[in-house]
Amino acid sequence: MKLATKLQTALNDQLGLELVSAYAYLGMAAYFQQSPFTGFAQWMQLQSHEELAHAQKFFNYIGERNGKVKLQALPEPQSDYKSPLQVFQTSLAHEQKVSAAICGIYELALAEKDFATLSFLKWFLDEQVEEEKTVGEMVAKLEMVGDNRNGLFHLDKLAAKRGDRIA
Ligand code: FEO
Repeated sequence: MKLATKLQTALNDQLGLELVSAYAYLGMAAYFQQSPFTGFAQWMQLQSHEELAHAQKFFNYIGERNGKVKLQALPEPQSDYKSPLQVFQTSLAHEQKVSAAICGIYELALAEKDFATLSFLKWFLDEQVEEEKTVGEMVAKLEMVGDNRNGLFHLDKLAAKRGDRIA
C-alpha cells in the first residue's frame, strides 16, 4: 500500500505544522515565564510537549508507510504578548488552523482511498475537538474576568492544575 506523493507531502507539511505549534507554545511559555502567571507558563509548556508528541506521531507514521520524512525550517515564534487573553486567543486561532489542516489531509486521503491514513487521522480529529474546547473555555473565562486581579489569579491556579502533569 504505497503512500501517494501528494499525501506524503501533506503529512510532511503537518509534521512541520506540529513542530511550529510546539515552538509557538514554547514562545507563549517564555512570555508567561517573565510574568507572575506561573500556572499559564506550565500550561504552555505542557502544550508544547503535546505538540512535539503529535509531530512524532506524523514522523513515525510516514516511516511506517515507507515514506520519506522531509523536515522544514521553523520560523521564530512570537514571545511578546499584551495579556493572557491575547495569548489564549492566539492559541485558539492556531488550533483552528491546525484543525482545518487535519481536515484537508483527511479529504486528500479520502480522495486517494488511503484508508490506513484515514484511520491514522481519526485520533487527530478527536484531539482537535478536545484542544479547541479546552482553549476556547479558557478564552471565555479570561474574557469574563477582564482585568480583575482576583479572577486572573484564580485562572492561573486553574491552569497550573493542567500544567501539574509535567511539573
Ligand atoms: Fe497538534 Fe494543537 O495541534
